[in-house]
Amino acid sequence: MRFQAQRGTEDVLPSVSHQWITLENAFRDVVKLYGYAEIRTPTFEDTQLFTRSAGETSDIVNKQMYTFEDRGGRSITLKPEGTAPALRALIEGHVLQQGQATRVSYITAAFRYERPQKGRLRESHQVGIELVGSGSVEADGEVIEIASRFYAAIGLHDVTVLINSLGRSECRDAFRAALLEFAQPLLKDMDAEERTKAERNPLRLLDSKDPLIAEFLKDAPSIGTFWEPESAARMDALQQLLADAGVNWRLTPTIVRGLDYYTETVFEVQADNIGAQSALCGGGRYDNLVKELGGPDMPSVGFGAGIERALLTLEAAEKSFEAARPDVYIVDAGVKDRNLIRRIARNLRSANLVVEYDMDGKTVKAQFKAADRSRAKWGIVIGGDEEASGQVTLKNLDTTAQISISHDQLVEQVKTR
Ligand code: HAM
Repeated sequence: MRFQAQRGTEDVLPSVSHQWITLENAFRDVVKLYGYAEIRTPTFEDTQLFTRSAGETSDIVNKQMYTFEDRGGRSITLKPEGTAPALRALIEGHVLQQGQATRVSYITAAFRYERPQKGRLRESHQVGIELVGSGSVEADGEVIEIASRFYAAIGLHDVTVLINSLGRSECRDAFRAALLEFAQPLLKDMDAEERTKAERNPLRLLDSKDPLIAEFLKDAPSIGTFWEPESAARMDALQQLLADAGVNWRLTPTIVRGLDYYTETVFEVQADNIGAQSALCGGGRYDNLVKELGGPDMPSVGFGAGIERALLTLEAAEKSFEAARPDVYIVDAGVKDRNLIRRIARNLRSANLVVEYDMDGKTVKAQFKAADRSRAKWGIVIGGDEEASGQVTLKNLDTTAQISISHDQLVEQVKTR
């Protein structure tokens, strides 16, 4: 019986795992510079954690959650995103202190029952950060700067950060009403489900992938005209901060985000070369969520960035990370005592060198082939003669130049050459 990976899931095979590891290391290196500490949360949570945070009108809650009843009769959901679980953990762990900002980062799988396509999976992975407990515009600036710096660190310099403000609640209410009014002719032609969705949260219309809707909404009222003075001032200040930080941004009034918890600043990072699923990263401010989840009243901001989409963007730009090469491949050309091979390998590894050798009695020719395939930089050839004389042949596998040296010189020679 053979099995296949489930629809919308992907394996990361050994030949590509270094791409993931390089990206994750780059993320960890960047966020460390800003004082973020990693948080890890369970794969599944109480379903209500998501219905209460992502929101009853979001696609995630309505159509995409992996929800099931466990054997104890609890409603369980595989996490569709990282923010609510991180906040749940910080609140439960009494980490949050009023008047003190808490910075956390995470690398997590996220589960959404979507129609799979390139860059859209049912199990996808995100790197993300949450800056909990600061309402300042500098916090917005920091979070966006980190996202931008992360993409630069992995070699994606041409991304654009689309920013917008959803304003405060009065602004949003007025904007929703105006948008709904404007969209009435559209709503007439929609099926009942679509119409109810649009009526419950008209902002969703702005996310629509339907070109007819997008075309119709081109002349729709813009949220900027509804901003309270504080929100307008925040956006001005944010743009100044982003300019100072060298971030490539564009004010984009149609960015509204697909999760209901956002307030004020929202943003997405866009790539131009990966087709329909071009949102590399999404984030924003969620000033009410910590309190709504039972924690202190703490304004917060964060982002989540898709790992698969970042890797696809790199691939489309014909950029990839090189896998590290082994330092040494040892070729057994007929030693009497196999212990010698293992001892040499152990010595080299103690000096932090990466060593491979065959254990299955391959011919010398086959061992050289294997050495080539491993992409090792050096070959060490030891036969009966070398064994007797305490020498080995050290061969540069790129140039094929070789020298004869004694066993005790090996580590030093491989390290310095
Ligand atoms: P999100 O925009 O839903 O935001 O997801 C963040 C990123 O995850 C997206 O920009 C995209 O790159 C990637 N992503 C999402 N769904 C999929 C999928 N089905 N397949 C592949 N990649 C996907 C959030 O999840 C928020 N928690 C972000 C946040 C953090 N906001 C504040 N703090």
